Amino acid sequence: MSGLLTAPFLKEMVRTVSDMYARGWDERNGGNVSLLLTEDEVASYLDGVLREIPTGFEAPALEGRYLLLTGTGKYFRNVPHQPEECLGLIRLTEQGRTAQLLWGFSDGGSFTSELPAHVLSHAARLSVDPNHRVVLHCHPTNLLAMTYVHTLDEREFTRTLWRMGTECIAVFPEGLGVLPWMLCGTNEIGVATAEKMRRHRLVVWAQHGLYGAGNALDQTFGLIETAEKAAEVYLKIAHLPIVNTITDQQLRIMADAWGYRPPTGWLE
Ligand code: 13P
Ligand code: ZN
Repeated sequence: MSGLLTAPFLKEMVRTVSDMYARGWDERNGGNVSLLLTEDEVASYLDGVLREIPTGFEAPALEGRYLLLTGTGKYFRNVPHQPEECLGLIRLTEQGRTAQLLWGFSDGGSFTSELPAHVLSHAARLSVDPNHRVVLHCHPTNLLAMTYVHTLDEREFTRTLWRMGTECIAVFPEGLGVLPWMLCGTNEIGVATAEKMRRHRLVVWAQHGLYGAGNALDQTFGLIETAEKAAEVYLKIAHLPIVNTITDQQLRIMADAWGYRPPTGWLE
């Protein structure tokens, strides 16, 4: 299955992971990425099951689905140099309880410890968007910093970010979901993240990082990039006297002009 290294989706995955690392979103092994693939996309590269790995949870909605994803403990900066060791292709079977390893994790490694949050979020997003394909977790510096100094109220957190750039409301009109600090790598945080993902493509993990979801790697990267830039602007100005801002009325004008419907009550 070495041909997989030339697959367009693998190249795009490596490029995305490299860009995330370059942005400082993924120190060490911080963060993880998964991409849903169709049988048609992977069929020509398949030549058997290498190993079977229990997942520790159930996700019937993803039975038989293929995922290209990062491995646990793998350093982001190594992915372009050791893709077959740092990445893996799995197929979920037995109602999601088993992952068949089809390619990758060549050093005997395994998928990210955040597999519950990824798989359950994929299921949640697919239930509201049949074109959904990507879940991306990272530790972006400014959003992470913001969770130490800003209220974690979702409406307030979102409104602050919407005001940090005119186009923010167009990129994430549904706002951000925010989870309080929880133990990562567990089914519990996976279930809580997926629950937020039904309404939001961005979910903040307080004092930890961020989850983003989307229809393509490019689009999901751009979503996180926009929220992270807004958080950077916020941190640059939060300690200064605010002279000008984007008002609620201006947020409403943009939402109306561009046809977005933010959650009821979040604009005023
Ligand atoms: P993994 O190395 O298992 O993917 O974990 C990294 C991480 O960011 C945990 O939240
Ligand atoms: Zn993390």
